[in-house]
Amino acid sequence: MASLKIDVRTSGAGSPDLVTFFVKGNALPTGIPAEEFDGSPGSMVILRDRDHRTLLVGLGEKDKIEPDTLRRAAGTAIKHLLKLGSREVAFDLALYPDYVAPVVEGALLAGYKFEGFGTPVTKRTRGVLGKMQILVKEHELTHARVQAREAEIIATVTNTIRDIGNLPGNLLTPAILAEKAQELVQGRNLTVKVWNERQLKSDGFGGILAVGRGSVNPPRFIVLEYRGAKNKKETPIALIGKAVTFDTGGISIKPGAQMDEMKWDKMGGMAVLGILLAAAELKLPLNLVGLIPSAENMPGPDAYRPGDIITTLDGKTIEVLNTDAEGRIILADAIAHARLTYKPSAIIEYSTLTGAVVMALGFRRAGLFTAEDKLRDALIAAGKTTGELVWPLPIDDEYKEGTQSEVATVKNIGGREGSACTSATFLKTWAEEVPFVHLDIAGVAWTTKPPAHLEGGATGFGVRLTLQALRAGLLG
Ligand code: BES
Ligand code: ZN
Ligand code: ZN
Repeated sequence: MASLKIDVRTSGAGSPDLVTFFVKGNALPTGIPAEEFDGSPGSMVILRDRDHRTLLVGLGEKDKIEPDTLRRAAGTAIKHLLKLGSREVAFDLALYPDYVAPVVEGALLAGYKFEGFGTPVTKRTRGVLGKMQILVKEHELTHARVQAREAEIIATVTNTIRDIGNLPGNLLTPAILAEKAQELVQGRNLTVKVWNERQLKSDGFGGILAVGRGSVNPPRFIVLEYRGAKNKKETPIALIGKAVTFDTGGISIKPGAQMDEMKWDKMGGMAVLGILLAAAELKLPLNLVGLIPSAENMPGPDAYRPGDIITTLDGKTIEVLNTDAEGRIILADAIAHARLTYKPSAIIEYSTLTGAVVMALGFRRAGLFTAEDKLRDALIAAGKTTGELVWPLPIDDEYKEGTQSEVATVKNIGGREGSACTSATFLKTWAEEVPFVHLDIAGVAWTTKPPAHLEGGATGFGVRLTLQALRAGLLG
C-alpha cells in the first residue's frame, strides 16, 4: 500500500495534477464543448497544461450533492489519474470546505489496491501516489487539517483491514489473524486477548470448536478492548464480527463455482478490528469491546457433521442440520461471551452470514436487523453520510418457528424462505435482553465488479458506517 502524505494548503505547491469539481448547470470552462462533458456524477474531462493536468469531475445537480457524492468523485478521479501515471495530485476544495473528509477518504480508498504476490506487474502499470494536496481558503485551514487527519486515520485503517481481508485462506489462518491483531494493537491504546484451541476447550466455547474441527488450522477467539471513556468502568458497546478465514461449507460442502470468494468470509471480523483500531487512534470518548471468533470451515476427518448437537458457551444447544450455516454457530459463542462478561449496553454484530440477504438486497446495501428503533435510525443515518448503506429487515419471534428443534435449543437452519431473517432471530437468542443489532454484510463486504471509484476485493464495509454513528454519539 502506498504511503501518502496529505498537505492541506491554500494553493498548489509544485505542479501537481489538479482535480476540480464541477456542478451540473454551471458555466463550462472555455474550450470544453458541452457534448463532451455534462457534469453528471462521475463524468470527467481532462485539460492538459505544459507541466500538469487539470481533471474536471462532475458532481451532478447542486441540491443532490452529499458527502458520498464527493467521496466517489474523488475516488474516480484518483483511479483515473493513477492510470495516467500521476504522482502528485491536488484537490481544489475552495468551494467545498465541508467536504475535506469525504474527499480524503475517497482518494485514499480508491488509491488502495491489493498487490498480490505475482511479478510486480501491477506496480509497473499503475502509478503510486506520492503526495496529496488539499486546497482550501486561508480561514478554513485549521478546520480542514483536522478533517483531513481524521479521514486519513479512518481510510488508512480501512485499507489495512482490506489488505488482511484480501489474503487467501492458505495465507491467513485463524492463528495468523490473531497474530496480526496482536501486532496491530502495538503502540495503540488497546488491549487484545487471544484464546487458542486448548483455552477454548477449557472455557467451553463449543460453537467455535465445532466449526474449527474440520481444519488442520485451529480456531481462535480474539477480544480487543478500548477504554476511551472518562470512566473506564462505564459499560462498553460490544462489536462482534464473524471471521471464517475460509468457508468450504464443511461436510455440507459448497458447489465449486466462485468458492474462492469465501476467503472474504472473514470480513465481519475485519470490520470489527478496523473499528477498534480507528477508535483508539481517534481517541473516541467511549468504551468498546471487539469480539472476533475465527475458524476455518473445512470437511477434514474430524469435521462436525449434520445431526451433531453442540453446546455453546452459555449452555444453549444447537442441532446442526447444515455445516455451511457455520457463521451463526461461532457467533453464538461470541455473543454469549459478550453478554456474560461485559453486560454491554448494546451488541452490534457484523457477518457475511447469508446468501439470502444478497438475493434480497443485492450488492449496495447491507441487511440491518434490530428491534431497537434508536440504533436502527442511527445506523441508517450514518449509512447515508458514509455511503455504506443499510436497509432494515425484520428480526422477531415470527421467525423463531423456523429454527425450533426437537432435540436442542435451536437448529441451525430453517427453510429457504426468509432465511436471512431466520438467521438473525437465531443469533438474537444468545443476546437475550441485551439490545442487539445484526448486520448481514454478505452482499457488500467485497466486490468483484468494482464501481469506478474502487478497486475490486474487500471493501472494508462497516468501518466508516460504525465510526460515523459512534462519533455522532448515536449508539449510546
Ligand atoms: N458465508 C456464507 C454466506 C455467504 C454466501 C456470503 C454467499 C456471501 C456470499 C454462509 O456461511 C453460508 O454458507 N450460508 C448459507 C446458509 C444456508 C446453509 C442455510 C447460505 O446462505 O447459503
Ligand atoms: Zn457457510
Ligand atoms: Zn460462512
